[in-house]
Amino acid sequence: MASISVPDENREITDPDEIREFLAPHGLWYEKWDVEGRIDRDASNEEILEAYSPEIDALKSKGGFVTADVINVSSETPGLDDMLNKFNKEHTHDEDEVRFTVRGSGVFHVNPENGPVFAITVESGDLVNVPRGTLHWFNLCSDRTIRCIRLFEDPSGWAPHYTDNPVHENYAPICLGPSYLSPGAADGEGAGSVVDLS
Ligand SMILES: [Fe+2]
Repeated sequence: MASISVPDENREITDPDEIREFLAPHGLWYEKWDVEGRIDRDASNEEILEAYSPEIDALKSKGGFVTADVINVSSETPGLDDMLNKFNKEHTHDEDEVRFTVRGSGVFHVNPENGPVFAITVESGDLVNVPRGTLHWFNLCSDRTIRCIRLFEDPSGWAPHYTDNPVHENYAPICLGPSYLSPGAADGEGAGSVVDLS
């Protein structure tokens, strides 16, 4: 379940409807898609795309996306830190960044035109759209794992444009999760934590 934190206001939002209301003025949208019962844990990329083809087709017609793929990242991924370092500093894209998280977790920080920086922690079942031109950056959570569907309008357009604003250094990549919200709970996938990207 996605969560939002606004560090400068010491505010957290976990209710899905409140998350949607919070994101809407910034042009972001959030949807929750079922994962349990839809796909096996070890489903292939093709099986994932097939399972979610109705939703993907609906998004394609809604947002002008022409292609979708599945990306798999884990702590064993060669060159993981180099890959993460491309996206963990403030940047924009020329097209929307749309991600449906099948497994694992991550955190998008957004630096909106109006208002303080906020963080969206995404986990299994969360679909988030970060519109083109939105100032943002991304980190993995402590499990350093994410498997997600990506939608593209034009794959060549999905390159980061850096702002050279070191604002990301002011915000620790803290991922909200069950153990963060309930101190003392057993650690689990997506538990709150800080990723060491150094
Ligand atoms: Fe990005």
